[in-house]
Amino acid sequence: MPSLSARSASLNESAIRKLDALVAARPQISFYRVNIGQPDVATPAPMLEALRGFQEEVLRYGPASGLPACRKAAARYHGAWSDALGPEHVAVTTGGSEALIYAFAVACDPGDEILAPEPFYTNYLGFACTVGAKIVPVRTSIQDGFALPSNAKLEAQLTSRTRAVVFANPGNPTGAVYPRSDLERLTAFCEKHGLLIISDEVYRRIFFGNAPASILEIPKARQRSICVDSMSKTWSACGLRLGFLISHNLKIMKAVERLGQSRLGPQPLAQAAAVAALELGPEHYSQTRALYKERIDALLEGLGEIPGVSVHRPEGAFYLMVKLPVDDTEAFARFLAHEFSHQGESIVVAPGGGFYTDPSHGKQLIRLAAVLEPEKLRRAADLLKLGLQAYTHDQAD
Ligand SMILES: Cc1ncc(COP(=O)(O)O)c(C=O)c1O
Repeated sequence: MPSLSARSASLNESAIRKLDALVAARPQISFYRVNIGQPDVATPAPMLEALRGFQEEVLRYGPASGLPACRKAAARYHGAWSDALGPEHVAVTTGGSEALIYAFAVACDPGDEILAPEPFYTNYLGFACTVGAKIVPVRTSIQDGFALPSNAKLEAQLTSRTRAVVFANPGNPTGAVYPRSDLERLTAFCEKHGLLIISDEVYRRIFFGNAPASILEIPKARQRSICVDSMSKTWSACGLRLGFLISHNLKIMKAVERLGQSRLGPQPLAQAAAVAALELGPEHYSQTRALYKERIDALLEGLGEIPGVSVHRPEGAFYLMVKLPVDDTEAFARFLAHEFSHQGESIVVAPGGGFYTDPSHGKQLIRLAAVLEPEKLRRAADLLKLGLQAYTHDQAD
């Protein structure tokens, strides 16, 4: 047997995917899958038409940083948050995921560290591992709405290896929205300590009160920030695998171009659909917001009927972090997937531990994704309530 790298051995199985095998083993049960951020929302018709209308005779490689038409369309779209943005400031990537890997690769040498308000999008750990970097968590709490940590808290985690700060705004799994004043404070902090800002804005258009600020809006952040965007959520096109890395800093963009050259280019077919997406009118975004607001409200309403549960009302994205009256939500999630059912139905939830570097900090939390229609979400909340009753009853036996 060949020996494998310590890095590959250190990769944990995705907390979100862990329950898949248990669910697959019960084909007779109909599951409400609120554990992953895969919406059931139809992808906009103009995108599907662009895919069907792609009539090239040869499926060619495209340029490393994306086709000019797609970079131009993205620069125009993101220009709503920043003037002086041209195609040279945009690289097209294979999902927001690849943009994040490139951002981490640009920021870090092996052994370097990236600060991340915790809980955070669990795949940041995998992206950091890919480039040999380390995520250093800065804890936030459900009690204060998962607000951006204070400078003192951020400072306490700085070491000589710290190179960047990464955060999602709006947050996954927290639903927290950072306003402009937060990004200005963070920019000043990063300026003081010579750090890069990696602003993951894949949920930017999904918010329920004040809009999140974009790092592109902060003039002082221009030379030290990377903005990540994606087709996956706002345009319900997770399978398109198309995202963007945007920076005003042309040195960063040159490095990203070189990284992109090594994997040749992002898919031209997907870029044709992205161009169609970026040309949609403002009603697409208001409809998307209204759709998720209705879903979040339905889920909150259902959760409100469960005794002992506390929840932070999200300000954006489409997730809810929920505190349950159980000691170990991973065991509870397994119980729901493996044992529990009511009238042939059950629910799949994401245990909170997967969103923490030390999973014990999320032991009483689960994350729910409002990715189903409101009626289905009400039933999912009902199943959660019944599941909790059955679980606590079982444990008392
Ligand atoms: C916060 C956050 N960033 C990035 C991604 C990756 O998105 P993509 O599908 O564009 O790779 C996700 C996906 O769920 C996410 O929630």
